[in-house]
Amino acid sequence: MKEALTTAYEARETLIQEQELARSLEEGALDVTLPGRPREAGGLHPSTRTLRQIQAIWAEMGFQVFRSRDVEDDYTNFTALNMPPHHPARDMWDTFYTTQENVILRTHTSPGQIRAMHALGAKGTRPIRVILPGMCYRYEQITARSEIQFHQVEGLAVGRTITMTDLKGTIADFARRMYGERARVRFRASHFPFTEPSMEVDVECFICGGEGCRVCKYSGWVEIMGCGMVHPVVLENGGYDPTQWSGFAFGMGPERITMLKHGINDIRYFWSGDLRFLEQF
Ligand code: DAH
Repeated sequence: MKEALTTAYEARETLIQEQELARSLEEGALDVTLPGRPREAGGLHPSTRTLRQIQAIWAEMGFQVFRSRDVEDDYTNFTALNMPPHHPARDMWDTFYTTQENVILRTHTSPGQIRAMHALGAKGTRPIRVILPGMCYRYEQITARSEIQFHQVEGLAVGRTITMTDLKGTIADFARRMYGERARVRFRASHFPFTEPSMEVDVECFICGGEGCRVCKYSGWVEIMGCGMVHPVVLENGGYDPTQWSGFAFGMGPERITMLKHGINDIRYFWSGDLRFLEQF
């Protein structure tokens, strides 16, 4: 009895399915000859791509990511970095102040150095190797070349025997990993209050290979970061004894690197949310 019923049921079910299919084909509801619909896939923001690439390279070299805060206090953003109140070097960073006294938006990722030293240095007894990626804010006129928000990637290494040779070798290694085996770098003397000595780093133009083009303004070189040996005052403010410990630091701007790489001539595209720009990546 059960077998008979099951067979009858299945026969009926198959018939109904066939009729259904025939009917839907007839109505044209399903045209199996149509090509598939492409799936709309989202993409990563060009800045995110560059940030991830930079982070991956430093990770290979043993630098862990340390996330510092976007909202800073005046002391950590300036004073702890060897710029006491009224120091003229503060003018280099146009600052967003808030209605709360001493609370500002960080103008660069360098205050993260102080926070990393306190968080990881165990009161100045442990070496550190970190990078600090994050958004920075400046009270500026928005133009094709400057925005009020942009990323920086800061780097900090503190140890007992770190010298300028380590800094130069590490930066040159980074440039080779980022711009290719044969990328040459040059170091130019510069000045930052929180490093001594300070330098700016140029890499041989990765568009023209140093021949001279529009991107490098026919100089063959493009600037990629500022760096230097951590100033003794900064080490001290991070809890280290500067007679026993030394370190190097650097800071680079991923948007600048992305602009150079893709020939983007206006920084305002980055945060405008214009899909016509974003969909190109
Ligand atoms: N904080 C600097 C800026 O915003 C960049 C910088 C320069 C960071 C030299 C560093 C450094 O750590 O050593 O312009």
